[in-house]
Amino acid sequence: MSNSSEAELTHMFRGILFSSRSSPELLKSLDAFDAREDDVLLVSYPKSGTHWLAGVITKLYNTQITLTSPIEFGDISKLEELNKLSSKRIIPTHLDYNMLPPNFKNKKCKMIYLSRNPKDTAVSMFHYYRDNPHLPTIDTWTAFFDLFLKGNVVCGSWFDHFLSWEEHNDDKNILFLFYEDMKKDLPEVVKKITAFLSLNISDKDIQDICKKSSFSEMKNDLEKENSDPSHTVCALTSNRKLIFRKGAVGDWKNHFTPKQNIRFEETFKEKMKLSKM
Ligand code: A3P
Repeated sequence: MSNSSEAELTHMFRGILFSSRSSPELLKSLDAFDAREDDVLLVSYPKSGTHWLAGVITKLYNTQITLTSPIEFGDISKLEELNKLSSKRIIPTHLDYNMLPPNFKNKKCKMIYLSRNPKDTAVSMFHYYRDNPHLPTIDTWTAFFDLFLKGNVVCGSWFDHFLSWEEHNDDKNILFLFYEDMKKDLPEVVKKITAFLSLNISDKDIQDICKKSSFSEMKNDLEKENSDPSHTVCALTSNRKLIFRKGAVGDWKNHFTPKQNIRFEETFKEKMKLSKM
């Protein structure tokens, strides 16, 4: 819950709602951002499992890498900070494909797009909104459900976000992953990631990495990390307990009413009629 007004906490930029933690100056300057060929982007709509994926990927490298905060979070000094990093950069982002700095596209940087069932994403985002003082107050699930379907939440419409990236499904430098596949068979997904990133990792190491990336392990890690305030991936909260909530598939069934489910399905069919996936 938050005492600040919605206008203080969010703002619109090119038709998409952003948290005030993403300054308009930074968003404007993204167009001129200088990407490096070896940058790896972790792309997702919020609450799709970004921290999980980041946790896995940072364990895959035995060379020095830096996992940054999302490129769109911060003020104008952010880009300079990123420029100063001498190690390989793993950069998360929730940006729509159209807003991505063109340099990442021109240099054909590797990008991993992680998606999750939008019903579970909506529920996860509802809890995140509700408990996060940096986001507008949401009184009820019913109210949030409406905002989500209309795309009036931070990072805009789930449907538009997914479609903007899906259009690039055939680009060789973009790997599409699903949260549900990670839940079903994480080692298999990690093998796909290592092949995509050209990393040579033994099956045994993959098994170890998967063990260390389980929900319970990551949640426990988090308790240790919480003692270090600089250790946050998500720039909207330093309370990472908000991020590791339930980690389940199908939690939407505990929230959606039958009517809401019908409305969601109708919107999904309408919005996604051009989707190939
Ligand atoms: P829930 O709120 O449904 O629990 P993001 O990192 O993009 O903000 O996504 C957060 C969601 O990913 C949360 O979903 C969180 O619990 C889930 N998550 C994080 N780590 C996970 C893990 N190791 N295994 C399964 N789910 C995980």
